[in-house]
Amino acid sequence: MTLATPVLRTDRLRLRPFTDADAGPLFALHGNTSVMRYWDSPPWTERARAERFLATCRRLEDEGSGARVAIDRVSDGAFVGWCGLSEWNPVCRSASLGYCLDEPMWGHGYGTEAARALLGWAFDTLDLNRVQAEADTRNAASARILEKVGFVREGTLREDCVVNGEVSDSWVYGLLRREWPPSHAAR
Ligand SMILES: CC(C)(COP(=O)(O)OP(=O)(O)OC[C@H]1O[C@@H](n2cnc3c(N)ncnc32)[C@H](O)[C@@H]1OP(=O)(O)O)[C@@H](O)C(=O)NCCC(=O)NCCS
Repeated sequence: MTLATPVLRTDRLRLRPFTDADAGPLFALHGNTSVMRYWDSPPWTERARAERFLATCRRLEDEGSGARVAIDRVSDGAFVGWCGLSEWNPVCRSASLGYCLDEPMWGHGYGTEAARALLGWAFDTLDLNRVQAEADTRNAASARILEKVGFVREGTLREDCVVNGEVSDSWVYGLLRREWPPSHAAR
């Protein structure tokens, strides 16, 4: 069953389906070694990776297995990055959250604002019970986003990733429907 990728508005952001025109900004984003510092795969070196990413977005929609949205800043239309839900499992009623923002956009609360909007849509639209997320244990900004939107740190995946020969641990986070929306709701 298909799942239409939503258009969502927050105070400062517009979350929308990707288009082919996003291939350039997407390639620049995932080609940036700082942005990819804690990613579970190396920076992109071929533009074809962006085309594959866009094909995956279409597949998620066609299969109904998730939704990836591009994030634009409302004030000037600048491309901020993306966030997405994947691995939607209707039997277990679970999915995974991920996000990636361009370096000049960090530190303004955009990651938190986008994640919160996508989770709100997902809990309203899907019969979700659990959302999972993972973050490199060194990625303090990502861990902080997850905690701000209500995720609970559940454990550590030891030596979960090896990227460019560097071994790293990941934290596993979970957010349950009965915990949404979080009562502390930091912005
Ligand atoms: C992780 C990422 C999404 C954060 O986006 P952002 O828009 O800067 O996040 P926000 O501003 O909403 O929140 C970040 C929080 O982390 C805190 N933070 C940032 N760097 C930190 C650090 N080095 N140590 C501790 N806290 C840190 C910020 O102070 C903020 O918390 P606060 O609101 O309590 O002050 C962004 O850096 C990114 O896309 N990085 C590259 C891709 C990536 O790592 N994705 C996640 C993979 S799991």
